[in-house]
Parts: sequence; C-alpha cells; structure tokens
Amino acid sequence: MSTLPHSLLRSLQAVFPGDALILGQEETLTFGKDASRKFAQPLAVVRPESTEHCSELLRLAQEWRMPIYARGRATNVVGGCVPTTPGIVVSTARMARILDIDGDDFVAVCQPGVVTGDLQEAAKAKGLLYAPDPASAQFSSIAGNIAMNAGGLRAVKYGCTRDWVLGVEAVMPGGTVLRLGSRCHKDVAGLDLARLFVGSEGTLGLITEATLKLLPLPESQATLLAVFPSDDQALAAMRDVFRAGILPTAMEFMSGDVLWALGRLGAVPWPEGSKAALLISIDGSHEALKHDLERVRRAVEPNAPSLLEQASTPQEEDALWSHRRQVNQAVFVYGPDKSSDDIAVPRGRVGETVKRISEIARKLDVKIITYGHLGDGNIHVNYVFDAADKGESNRIKDAKTQVLELTLSLGGTITGEHGVGLSKMGWIARKVGPDALAAMHAVKAALDPLGIMNPGKGY
Ligand code: LAC
Ligand code: ZN
Repeated sequence: MSTLPHSLLRSLQAVFPGDALILGQEETLTFGKDASRKFAQPLAVVRPESTEHCSELLRLAQEWRMPIYARGRATNVVGGCVPTTPGIVVSTARMARILDIDGDDFVAVCQPGVVTGDLQEAAKAKGLLYAPDPASAQFSSIAGNIAMNAGGLRAVKYGCTRDWVLGVEAVMPGGTVLRLGSRCHKDVAGLDLARLFVGSEGTLGLITEATLKLLPLPESQATLLAVFPSDDQALAAMRDVFRAGILPTAMEFMSGDVLWALGRLGAVPWPEGSKAALLISIDGSHEALKHDLERVRRAVEPNAPSLLEQASTPQEEDALWSHRRQVNQAVFVYGPDKSSDDIAVPRGRVGETVKRISEIARKLDVKIITYGHLGDGNIHVNYVFDAADKGESNRIKDAKTQVLELTLSLGGTITGEHGVGLSKMGWIARKVGPDALAAMHAVKAALDPLGIMNPGKGY
C-alpha cells in the first residue's frame, strides 16, 4: 500500500493538528466509499476549518503532485468522491456553517459542508425558499450538490442547483483563492466561472463557500397522489397536466414495482397491487392554489385514476414525500445488488422511453425499475439483480447498454442529475463527442495542470 512521503506528512501535521488529520488504514476506511458502494483506500483524510487551511493544503498538493478528493456527505451514487488514485480526502464536515441568510438581498451564504435540508429549514424560518430539493436533501451537503449539480424533486419548476448558485469561493491547485460571481442576482461580468464549478465533480478546485439565490416562500403548497391502473395512464395524465398549462412544483412517477417495494417498508396510502402513481405538487398563493388544484384534477381525471387524493395535512404531505425519498433504498427488496442509471430524455419522449425500457427488461428477463422526476424528463432506471448469478449479471450489462443506447438515440443524456463520476466514464465520450470532450480536457488542463483534482472522474 502506498503511503504519504514523510516530509509531506510533517507539513500536513503542521496545518492539520490533532484529529484534523486522520491517518491509518482503519481510521480512513470509511472515507473511501460513497453511496455508489465503490471503494478505494485513502492515504489520509484532512478536516479543514477554513479557506486558509484549504489553500495551504492545495499548495502542498500541487508541490507534491498529490491527488485531492473533496468529500461532503458522500451521498453521490456514481463514485464521485472515491479516491481511486491514492491521495488525500478532504472532508468538509468542519466547514458546515450557514454564514448569512438575507431577506433583502434574497441570498444565503454557506460553507461547503452545510446540509441542504438545514439550509432549506433556516431559509423557511425567515420566510424564504431555497428551491433545489434533491431526494437526499436531509443528508447531502451544499458543496456536494454544487459539485454534482444536484437536481431533485422540485427541478421541474425551479431547475437544478446550477440555477441557484450566484457565487462560489474556490481554492485552486497551488493554493490561489478565487472569489467568483457575487451577491447580485444578475452579474454578467466576464466568463461565468462560478457556474463552471457547478457540475465540475470536484475536478477543478475545492469549493469553500457558496452564495445562493433565495425566493420568497410560496404562501401555500399542496400535493396530490394519483394512482392509475397502468403506466400509460399515469404518463398520459402527466402530459395532460402540462398541456393544461400548469407547471407543477414536482411531478414524480412511481411504477408498480416501486409502489410494491415501498409497501414492504411499512404502511402506504395506495392499495396493494397498484400499478403506477404520480405525486404532483403545486405551490402559490392561497387563492391560486385552490384554482390550480381544480385544474390539475380536471387534467388528471380523464385518465381514470383509481385514486386521486390530496394530502390533507402537512404531516400527510411530508409522509408522501418521505415514501418517495426512500425509493432508492426500497428497491433492494428485489435483489441484493443494484446498478443505477439516471437518464434524461426530452420531455415529449418520456412515455416512449419508459415503455421501451420495459420491453428491454422483458426481452432480457431482468428486473428494471423506473421512477423519478418524469416531469422534467429525468428517469431513474434501477437494475436490481444478484451479482453472484453470472448469467443475470451479464444480462444486466446488456440491458444497461441497450437503455443508454436508446436514450442517446432519442436525443437524451446519460445522466440528468447524478453526474458521471466513475460509473459513467465509459459513456461520456459518446454523449458529448470528441470535440466537446477535448474542450473539457483543455479547461481542466488550464485550471488543474497537474491533474490532481479528483482524477479519473467526470469527463
Ligand atoms: C432520487 C435520487 C436517487 O431521486 O436521485 O431518489
Ligand atoms: Zn433523483
């Protein structure tokens, strides 16, 4: 196993005294894994408390050509923070303060390790909305959301993390600190380097602070659960809501497999045997909400829902969304191993895509589960299997290839919100093409000439 050079170790000990530096195979083990369940052993873990610590770290890293892996809550599902080339993991756990929430500027300023759900709550307490809402909001961190450009449940109306980042402080290889963007909601001075960091997957620099845009908190919101006898009817209802001129806050699809799996975890509000469901949220003023709920009902009803119910209390509403947030784990009921894709297709092709994925599953005799943010064309495709069964594992590989080929042929993308990380490196060239890939590599080389920032990930 490789180790840190002695002299680098001494320098690190000076910057990161006591338990701010973690060494030793056992102690660093858990920092080598993320929600993808991929693993590599870190050489060391540091827990900086300030931008200065990060700057000193990246000065040393550049000098020693030492790979650096930023790590927030490690909820990413594509191996984005796994230290595959031996190097140092940088935990943001001790840079986790909300620095400012300003109801005049409609801005929040956060350190990187702030948990997204905590920011949402703190903003709400001041009558403000931090709009992005990844399914992992209760435990993922802001800089992780920025690094992966997290999407989530409200993206259909409010967009992804990128749309809410006004500014970023980033420490670059060599130690330079860049302050990019501003507190201004409009700022077009120069190239938009702040947003270049959004979705950069830790490959450019360390994000040490973020300035985020807030909205006035909508006066009210409501969620409808609509259950249908078939996928087709659910997808038609979804189309009809948009066609009626309504832009919901969230428009989530759950297949019959998902509904059954959630039912194994505890009580659910849909009958056993339900075939498909939509969760539809809207927000706005009290008056507008009443009117819009009626319009949603009118759009949905011709598609013969077997159940169309509004959550009647905030508790009921939270319970519905908490079912939805558990899907990613719940589907393990179908098998011990899972591989996930998070494709997105142009909105108009969603119905066709879901149908053709079911055909692939039938043809190859594998379990493929579809759910997610279908309102914005983003479909989570989960392949659940048993890796000990070689035949099944091979059929799953074929199924993944067919699903991704189908996606690209429909003008879609290999990832709508989870990022490329390690898992989709084999597909990025096909998605973006050689010229765009070369341009990405040129940007990387300009900002990280020695390639020490999260090597082997993203592009
Ligand atoms: C979700 C995560 C997996 O939407 O993106 O549940
Ligand atoms: Zn998702």
